[in-house]
Amino acid sequence: MATSEREEPTRRDFLYIATGAFGAVGAAALAWPFIDQMNPDATALALASIEVDLSSIEEGQTLTVKWRGKPIFIRYRTQEEIDAARAVDLAELRDPQTDEERVKAGKDQWLIQIGICTHLGCVPLGEQGDYDGWFCPCHGSHYDTAGRIRKGPAPLNLELPPYDFVTDDLIKIG
Ligand code: FES
Repeated sequence: MATSEREEPTRRDFLYIATGAFGAVGAAALAWPFIDQMNPDATALALASIEVDLSSIEEGQTLTVKWRGKPIFIRYRTQEEIDAARAVDLAELRDPQTDEERVKAGKDQWLIQIGICTHLGCVPLGEQGDYDGWFCPCHGSHYDTAGRIRKGPAPLNLELPPYDFVTDDLIKIG
């Protein structure tokens, strides 16, 4: 059984590019029930890694893909978002982590996270909340532009999946 597959954002139903929060919410709400029916069996899920082509994502956009049953947020951050994340005093953070620790060296624009709130597991909304990062409406957790928890009940930053850059435009997750 194949353990790796190439993702083509323009051709796969379960991928969508969100240019704004509203688009993301609508697409997510409609897409996930459908996606669940497309799941491979548990064995394949446990083994699967995926490759994602980043070339079609524009600055300021987020691509959400599914990996091992979880949404993965792939955000092409703007310079303003990176600057905002790096201006934060670590002493202010509940789960202290520098922005640099959350991205690959030399790839500051690409923030790749597991899109599951660390409180009770909802999928947060992008480009929302008090810190213009992610906002989880379930109980009001606010994450910043590095995906770090800043306010609300969630205890930890958004988790980072294991991934590597295969080329400048291609990542392998898992
Ligand atoms: Fe996100 Fe509770 S699940 S705030």
